[in-house]
Amino acid sequence: MKGAASPRLPAATGPVAGSPVVASPVVASPVVASTVVLSTVVAAGTALGAYRALRRYPHAAVFVAEAEDGRVIGRLSISRDQHPASRHVADLGLMVDAEYRRRGIGRALLDAAVEWAREAEVRKLELHVFPWNEAAIALYEDFGFIREGHRKNHYYRGEEYVDAILMAYELPA
Ligand SMILES: CC(C)(COP(=O)(O)OP(=O)(O)OC[C@H]1O[C@@H](n2cnc3c(N)ncnc32)[C@H](O)[C@@H]1OP(=O)(O)O)[C@@H](O)C(=O)NCCC(=O)NCCS
Repeated sequence: MKGAASPRLPAATGPVAGSPVVASPVVASPVVASTVVLSTVVAAGTALGAYRALRRYPHAAVFVAEAEDGRVIGRLSISRDQHPASRHVADLGLMVDAEYRRRGIGRALLDAAVEWAREAEVRKLELHVFPWNEAAIALYEDFGFIREGHRKNHYYRGEEYVDAILMAYELPA
């Protein structure tokens, strides 16, 4: 479905095993604090093992937004580029449950990503977005991302090759 999915969500690759983690809220944006808690990790079905492991992996993170009943209704994953010359760059993927959009959750998850990036000494966030995904582009541009490129036929999707826009956000010094 056009506009409904991220071109790519970074996979939870490479983490070392860690001990079980208790969800600890790290961000509570005033915009969403009444209905949503953002946690570094937590309980989400089959992904739980990967999320726990990521907690101890310094090069990637997953932030989730939970509704009051604990249901995960937003997710942002971020992972650092492993090349020594570009380890200051991290790639992210983001999605928010359709029922909870336009409540500031996407923005709050991006805020959490920026906070993580600062601590991880990442200076630049990047992502790919489909050109027709107006909601996502509006959010990213409003947040401060700029368009760095237009990638032709970059993804194979629905039996056709489709373009993607490369966007980036440089952390303020
Ligand atoms: C894109 C997405 C993550 C936005 O999440 P969200 O929680 O609704 O975003 P927010 O509520 O934080 O929006 C913040 C700002 O972004 C802009 N924005 C977000 N959705 C918008 C829309 N549908 N139309 C226009 N502007 C929009 C607005 O400026 C908004 O501020 P406002 O509500 O005060 O006007 C969500 O729509 C989504 O999950 N879409 C499907 C998956 C997807 O496309 N992911 C991104 C792939 S790259």
